[in-house]
Amino acid sequence: MVDEIISYLAPEKLKTYVDCTFGQGGYSKKILEKTNCNIIAIDRDKDAIEHAKLLKKKYPKNFIFCVDNFSRLDQVLKNNDIKKIDGLIFDLGISNTQLNNPTRGFSFSNNGPLDMRMDIENLDLTAQKIINEFDQHNLSDIFYYYGEEKNSRQIARKIIEFRKKKEISTTFELVELIKKVNSYKKKHPATRVFQALRIFINDELNELDITLKKSLLFLKKNGKIITVAFHSLEDKVIKNFFSRNKGLLKILTKKPVTPNEKEVKINPRSRSARMRVAEIL
Ligand SMILES: C[S@@+](CC[C@H](N)C(=O)[O-])C[C@H]1O[C@@H](n2cnc3c(N)ncnc32)[C@H](O)[C@@H]1O
Repeated sequence: MVDEIISYLAPEKLKTYVDCTFGQGGYSKKILEKTNCNIIAIDRDKDAIEHAKLLKKKYPKNFIFCVDNFSRLDQVLKNNDIKKIDGLIFDLGISNTQLNNPTRGFSFSNNGPLDMRMDIENLDLTAQKIINEFDQHNLSDIFYYYGEEKNSRQIARKIIEFRKKKEISTTFELVELIKKVNSYKKKHPATRVFQALRIFINDELNELDITLKKSLLFLKKNGKIITVAFHSLEDKVIKNFFSRNKGLLKILTKKPVTPNEKEVKINPRSRSARMRVAEIL
């Protein structure tokens, strides 16, 4: 949805934008190509540094990259002596680099350790710890609240039974257990449980809510907040934030914008993307 994002952001010369979810840098790159503006990019994952180096080389004066949580927006801006910004972008979830690296444990299609931390250095709780140490009730709650998994209780029970015999340590071991309960036709049976673990481990909904609130301190009049969410829980946080702050924001997308057929064909993962945009009044 990068073209739609650029068109809503309408980047202008010398203005300053924050890319809260740098990833492989696709969005930052497009914005910098558009005009001579400034970008502060943030990602909590150190693997993003490699991609950031390439942009820094090409745009040494216009581009800054910080390994940090976007919920520390205030600190990141202060450290870089930036008082006001003209726009803020969130392309939520995980990047292809994270998903396709089996050692990170994000994917139910690749076998690897049960990890799922976006920030390996600062987060202690891995998916393996949760799956092997949390009690049945807590596991079930995580799957239900963060994954909207309707078979949460049965899956939690299967996990508890299995781990009496052996520690569950790989993504495929977990997938096999989930498959004993779930047989969705449209989705992979493990989609919701993997989503739930990832959101819980990385505290994704709080991160988003905190940052949206903080952004109001820094955005200039007519500054934009542009969000792309990939599941209903994230989308709900954004929708509620926009509606709670109606007096301060003009909502530019009455309904969320979704990707066109062509984009979904090229990148099937984009099918669940929902973009929302608001402007500071
Ligand atoms: C979907 S990817 C972004 C892809 C990016 N737009 C691109 O063009 O490559 C999301 C990125 O946001 C990062 N991320 C997620 N939550 C974060 C947080 N709370 N603070 C900082 N980075 C975060 C992830 O590590 C991941 O690299």
